[in-house]
Amino acid sequence: MKVLVTGGAGYIGSHTCVALLEAGYDVACIDNLDNSSYEAIRRVEELTGKKIPFYEKNILDREALKAVFEAEKPDAVIHFAALKAVGESVAKPLEYYHTNVYGTITLLEVMREEGVKKLVYSSSATVYSSVKEMPVNEESFAYVTTNPYGWTKIMCEQIIRDTAKADPELSAALLRYFNPVGAHPSGRIGEDPAGIPNNLMPYIAQVASGKLQRLSVYGNDYPTRDGTGVRDYIHVCDLADGHVLALGRIAGGKGVYTYNLGSGKGTSVLEMVKAFEEASGRKIPYVIAPRRPGDIAEVFADASLAEKELGFKTKRDVFDMCRDLWNWQSHNPNGYEK
Ligand code: UFG
Repeated sequence: MKVLVTGGAGYIGSHTCVALLEAGYDVACIDNLDNSSYEAIRRVEELTGKKIPFYEKNILDREALKAVFEAEKPDAVIHFAALKAVGESVAKPLEYYHTNVYGTITLLEVMREEGVKKLVYSSSATVYSSVKEMPVNEESFAYVTTNPYGWTKIMCEQIIRDTAKADPELSAALLRYFNPVGAHPSGRIGEDPAGIPNNLMPYIAQVASGKLQRLSVYGNDYPTRDGTGVRDYIHVCDLADGHVLALGRIAGGKGVYTYNLGSGKGTSVLEMVKAFEEASGRKIPYVIAPRRPGDIAEVFADASLAEKELGFKTKRDVFDMCRDLWNWQSHNPNGYEK
């Protein structure tokens, strides 16, 4: 079975390519390398000993996308290719709606033309950002979010549901990721953010390596156990395994399945700092800073549906996430050096 991975050179995409190849799938990849590096694909090939046909193309380029489908004849698609920074989406809403929503529509149209009926979609826990009750389950979803990035995920989920309603042969899995962190244990692939990282763990890793001076902890007056924000961190390799399981689920099913992919546990910012210090042996200097606009106190998953229906259960804990992130960061201080 061949899987076309859009955005396969990115952080989650590259780890998923490894998991797919190790599970015996053939993989082809399309990525415009806007926020990723071909070096990630080269290293996935090196890790797995397998080849990945790679197309440096934009999914918005319908003719190019169609040509990839015709050359590769995939049986299924995993769709990662998208813009993903919450803050940037507030400043550039049209770019986000264009790339994420129009990109997904173009992909669905080409899938229809080419008769491809299986899709795994990269959604996000951001769809729960208005929800107050924790943990959030798949039904907690409220069609409200706080930023254009979140809206693109809500809209694309709905577009996929409607498309599947109109075409009963289409089966799709909508995977709502919580906070993916860590790296492949080999230290060969990992997250390579451009510029100063927005997210907590890549920021901490760059403080540990001396690239950044100190972490700003955004708020210690939240109603949480130590006052700092609580999130559900998931090792990127567990997340990658979730895609393989979801693909198995839709291979034998029809319709749309929605799953939270998280650990089900909340961890605070200060607990992550401590875990990283233990795993790396480095001190992480930090200051308490004002809350970051748009942040919520806590979000963590009820991950029981994915466990029940997919057999999905995270295997790696917070220590593993920090150890593997530090292994990647210390061996690749400048990422893929693009
Ligand atoms: N934080 C800091 N300092 C930093 C960066 C983050 O204290 O320099 C804190 C945040 O305030 C928050 C926690 O660390 O409490 C996690 O923040 P991240 O930016 O790492 O992650 P978010 O939970 O804000 O957002 C992430 C993704 C979104 C996705 C969301 C889903 O970036 O794309 O998870 O829950 F939508």
